[in-house]
Amino acid sequence: MIMAQNFRKIGVLTSGGDAPGMNAAVRAIARTANARGIQVMGIIGGYRGMIHDEMIELDNRAVSGKIQLSGTFLYSDRCLEFKEEEGMQKAIATLKKHEIDGVIAIGGDGTFRGATDLSVRGVPTIGVPGSIDNDITASDYTIGFDTAMTTVIENVDRLRDTCESHARCNVVEVMGRGAGDITINTAIASGAVACVIPEAPFDEEACINKIIRLRREGKRSFLIIVSEAFPTLGEELAKKITAVTKELSEKEGNDRLWVESKFCRLAHTVRGGSPTLRDRLTATKMGVRAVEELLAGNTNLIVVERQGEIATCDIGWSQVLDRMYKGTLKPGMTDKYTAEELADMEKFIAAKKAEFEAAYAMFNELAN
Ligand code: F6P
Repeated sequence: MIMAQNFRKIGVLTSGGDAPGMNAAVRAIARTANARGIQVMGIIGGYRGMIHDEMIELDNRAVSGKIQLSGTFLYSDRCLEFKEEEGMQKAIATLKKHEIDGVIAIGGDGTFRGATDLSVRGVPTIGVPGSIDNDITASDYTIGFDTAMTTVIENVDRLRDTCESHARCNVVEVMGRGAGDITINTAIASGAVACVIPEAPFDEEACINKIIRLRREGKRSFLIIVSEAFPTLGEELAKKITAVTKELSEKEGNDRLWVESKFCRLAHTVRGGSPTLRDRLTATKMGVRAVEELLAGNTNLIVVERQGEIATCDIGWSQVLDRMYKGTLKPGMTDKYTAEELADMEKFIAAKKAEFEAAYAMFNELAN
């Protein structure tokens, strides 16, 4: 393992879906390393840039004026070539050519798989969680999550304006991949009447009945937030609400019962925008910690946030935890862990699920 005193140069990359705040992390990494006499190379376009030898030096001036920018100025990619041994060996050759002693990889779980691949081949690598989805189970927070949610509620507030004028419903689909974190939080914060998340069953009939009941009580507009994990549900739900309430209004001869419903997919709009204070600060703290971990001679770790504190954990551990949380464990994956370690993981997951359930219960109580 390369120890701190031998470190001369580190590489940093952003990979996977971009997330607001990634630039703040890169800036913090560059400035921390530079301050300690270590050169930093920015690898362009994620692992692809590592394979094809595309990099720029990140001295302090190169990262100036970047903290407030969205996207990633190092660019990003989901690189299939890196998953093959040949691509990986090319990437390692590039690192050797530039005498890069360690790598910091900012991204989500795919990025961390790449980080492990480098670590096991002798390149000290630290991961930093950057993803709007907040779907790294081991960390309470991933860089970009707050900005993405802020963008969602800004847009949903606009939709509410027009819904209220026209006494309509708007079903809004938001990103988050398989995680309902963006959905549940923005549903709470926008005052939605229902939300559809992968973590809980959805009762369509109950949702429509609730809208009808609330309309009878005089509520004009309705918002429903749907996770992108249900790609067709949102649009179909909007059509169904429109049709069912139309039929009811005709049956009862009361056109006020008709809740015309529109569908809106926010899609990639929520990945853009200047990072919020929360994202800039967390990205900065995580970036600094990542450099410190590399310099301490550590590898195959990710930087995480736990109860407001910055910490680290083993990437392999975090991947098993993720799979346990999502119920996608494969045989043999937990073999190397002791019964005690597995019990700790279960405890961790139970606490996380309880937190999610509490948020969902609170949402349902308020959404009336
Ligand atoms: O992981 C971030 C994310 O934006 C997800 O929310 C979404 O499912 C996915 O990336 C979209 O990926 P792409 O940018 O490749 O379409």
